[in-house]
Amino acid sequence: MATSRGSSRVELTASLNYASLDVEQAGEIQNVIGKFDPDVVIHTAAMTQVDDCELHKEACWQANVKAVENVVNVLTGTKTHLIHLSTDFIFDGTKELLTEEDVPNPISFYGESKLAAEEIVMSADVSASIVRTVLVYGYTPGMSRSNLVLWVKASLESGKHIRVVNDQWRTPTLAEDLAKGCGLLTSSREQGIFNISGNDYLTPYQMAMQTAEYFELDATLIEEVDSSIFTQPAKRPPKTGFNIDKAKNSLGYNPHSFTEGLAIIASQLAAS
Ligand SMILES: NC(=O)c1ccc[n+]([C@@H]2O[C@H](COP(=O)([O-])OP(=O)(O)OC[C@H]3O[C@@H](n4cnc5c(N)ncnc54)[C@H](OP(=O)(O)O)[C@@H]3O)[C@@H](O)[C@H]2O)c1
Repeated sequence: MATSRGSSRVELTASLNYASLDVEQAGEIQNVIGKFDPDVVIHTAAMTQVDDCELHKEACWQANVKAVENVVNVLTGTKTHLIHLSTDFIFDGTKELLTEEDVPNPISFYGESKLAAEEIVMSADVSASIVRTVLVYGYTPGMSRSNLVLWVKASLESGKHIRVVNDQWRTPTLAEDLAKGCGLLTSSREQGIFNISGNDYLTPYQMAMQTAEYFELDATLIEEVDSSIFTQPAKRPPKTGFNIDKAKNSLGYNPHSFTEGLAIIASQLAAS
């Protein structure tokens, strides 16, 4: 079953239950868990705009930490397995291709809040996996928030000049691969931390150039810049990206390449 605040944003089918749920309201979580008694809960909800988190720390803490505490409290003493979504932004960006054993050191309030949430999950008496992911991209009809690939594609299609940074490194994650990783953990209920991302180690600029090339768009509209030209409230870690050997070896996780991800988006857009 699916939950979100308010009414469902996806088309409901006979096999998909839906409940409105604000995870900042402990009573609402209790009602939904009590009613549906799920085997597994995948907790994705968060305040994710890093600059908003820096500027609105209390709201960020409520959404990213207090809500997780609420979920964990309700699941304590049940047999439900919790899969909690976390981020590469818990790291300071000084080491590339991080493993699950690398020591977090957040440089933004968003990162701090997500690390605090991980600590709550790890110390709770609840069966749990933490899924850390990186720069998610993909397409679904009616999606509420864009991502780097769709932004580059839409900008170039409308002839807009864009500036894209060349001094941040990530292992971008196709949404379907992230879902697959969560699915594998749903089946195995393996506990602990799992890096779930793509394999390709790329800068946003390289992603933009590959997107332009794949969709045969005008790459001269893309200006390569370094992040010092942007003044943003929250710092971004320069290098992250994940070593995903643990997920490959223990879960059989095998993500698409970035080019394959672009091809999947192209076919989804063509079908929509
Ligand atoms: N996207 C990435 O590149 C990325 C990278 C690393 C980690 N992550 C992690 O992956 C998870 C999902 O991220 P995302 O990219 O899907 O973020 P997103 O597009 O910003 O979506 C976050 C969702 O959380 C919901 N939410 C926030 N507070 C809530 C509440 N109190 N009750 C119910 N729902 C609430 C929001 O609902 P409304 O629509 O109602 O506001 C929104 O739909 C997050 O935990 C994030 O930290 C994402």
